[in-house]
Amino acid sequence: MSEEKFQTVIGHVKSVNGSRISVKLSDEFRSSMPIVDGVVYRIGQIGAFVRIPLGYAHLYGIITQAGAEAIPDKIKESFELNLSSISSRWLTIVLVGERIGNKFERGVIQYPAPDDEVHLVTLNDLKIIYSEIKKESSIIVGHISASESLPAHVDLDKLVARHSAIVGSTGSGKSNAVSIILEAIASNQKYKSSRIILIDPHGEYNETLKKYCKVFKVNSDKKKGEYELHIPFWALPFNELFNVFPGVLKESALDHIRLEIQKRKIEGIKNLKKKPNELSVTSDSPIPFSIKKLWYDLDDFEKRVFNKIKNADSQYELQLVSALEKGDAQKLIPSKHNSPGIGGGNPNLNKDAFGILSYLNGMRNKLLDERYKFLFNTENYDPDLKNKTTLDLNDLLIDWLSHDKPITILDLSGIPSEIMVSISGTLIKIIYDALFWGQDLDVGGRKQPLLIALEEAHNYLKSGENSIASRTVQAISKEGRKYGVGLLLISQRPSELDETVLSQLGTLISLRLTNSKDRGHVGSAIQDDLNDLVNLLPGLRTGEGLIMGEAVKIPSRVKFDKIAFAPKSSDPLVSERWILEKPEDKLYDELLLKWRNRKIH
Ligand SMILES: Nc1ncnc2c1ncn2[C@@H]1O[C@H](COP(=O)(O)OP(=O)(O)O)[C@@H](O)[C@H]1O
Ligand SMILES: [Mg+2]
Repeated sequence: MSEEKFQTVIGHVKSVNGSRISVKLSDEFRSSMPIVDGVVYRIGQIGAFVRIPLGYAHLYGIITQAGAEAIPDKIKESFELNLSSISSRWLTIVLVGERIGNKFERGVIQYPAPDDEVHLVTLNDLKIIYSEIKKESSIIVGHISASESLPAHVDLDKLVARHSAIVGSTGSGKSNAVSIILEAIASNQKYKSSRIILIDPHGEYNETLKKYCKVFKVNSDKKKGEYELHIPFWALPFNELFNVFPGVLKESALDHIRLEIQKRKIEGIKNLKKKPNELSVTSDSPIPFSIKKLWYDLDDFEKRVFNKIKNADSQYELQLVSALEKGDAQKLIPSKHNSPGIGGGNPNLNKDAFGILSYLNGMRNKLLDERYKFLFNTENYDPDLKNKTTLDLNDLLIDWLSHDKPITILDLSGIPSEIMVSISGTLIKIIYDALFWGQDLDVGGRKQPLLIALEEAHNYLKSGENSIASRTVQAISKEGRKYGVGLLLISQRPSELDETVLSQLGTLISLRLTNSKDRGHVGSAIQDDLNDLVNLLPGLRTGEGLIMGEAVKIPSRVKFDKIAFAPKSSDPLVSERWILEKPEDKLYDELLLKWRNRKIH
């Protein structure tokens, strides 16, 4: 018996059920923290590995259960009357890989037999397991929890192309992990044309990833090098655009407006540098049109009046009465018309009007609302009354997708929450559509893949919701791979993520998860026999996570590195604010003026 064997054997195989093995710890092996070669090992930790020698080969398993619950049912039954007499020192392990010589392979082709010895895994074993990583295509995100000296590699190809998610309770270290992963990609000179878009609802990454990113934000701070976020309204599909305005329109009015927009987009073709085929233009096409002119015309149509006049054949016909005062579409000043006559006398109301004046009023309010300027007041992307813009969508795409930094942060913190999901969904759709239609070009996703990282992903993916966000993210999860678009979802509520999307994820990184419903969801997204691993999730330290799936050789418990500039939460600290002097009352004057002007800045 070699000395190593003496020191590392911890128990024996008792039953084999596929790759799920029950192990009974040896009675003579009393210490749960043996020391081998000066290193202390802890036995029986969920998530830790064991080794089962099998001739020339060694099988490796991961511990998924420890203690009384790992006792096989058959044995429990046979001791039914006297449960306390069974030792509770049992483990359930799931085989994950096998080593022959110094070569480790994922998956097993041989199985152990009852009474085979089970050994603890030493640092040396771990080194062999983790040395098989394809280093050229992997990034380092931290170290393997069991040993500071073992870097944690994640396969970049799998992580990006097969989609991934980072989940964990608030404060578990998600934002830090995201920053570490994105920094690992962005700081690598080798990946000089890497492209990452991070949708950041709270603006927490601007500082953290400063060196590597270009930030677009509503009310940007130019001094900080931020750029103004413009999402030209005309790039929105019809339904999303009309979602922005309050109230509902009846079908006939909606159809009318849809046709009006289509007509205007077709007219707008002549302003474009490269002209699309008229027949392919719909109300959803991303073509500039003046929404101010549309509003003005719709409003005018509702208000116009007619005189009923007898013609030469003694027939009544309607004659349009010209406006009392023309308005100004560019300034959103409506035209004025005569009031209708009393008791059916001239002039008469427009009988074709849709009765949408109050809707149009709501629309005008939004067009003027400073909080919506990222849509309706987009400088060079704003169409004039002839539907012409200075810049087009290709300029916007270059802005977002092709600059000298690898990461684009779309900071949505300035966007009103009621339209946040619709707007962020539209953003993702604009980007995905662009890469989809450009799939054969060198700037398409196939030639230059794109990673879309979504913070607070549960907001986009409320299960059962048919929003543009969830439809687009679902589409990317299913077929983004074909077009070179990968997803990195980040969420503290995995139970709210759509199950079909969860099931498409190649890699799942779970940090500490305290909510059992969330753990259940994570469990259902991972390989069946590893379900029990979710039991270790509540006990993870901050910044520690379990990485499972295609981007790692074997499920690995990893401690992420800490990013140099920690992501900041942008909410003001109450205790810091309440100790200051009370501000002057005259500021309420100013407040009221801003309110009435609808201007924050
Ligand atoms: N790997 C880590 N090592 C050390 N501290 C960490 C690590 N990850 C996160 N933290 C700290 O924990 C706190 C919460 O992290 P954060 O990433 O904001 O969590 P989450 O996004 O899940 O709410 C922060 O103060 C952060 O600095
Ligand atoms: Mg966070």
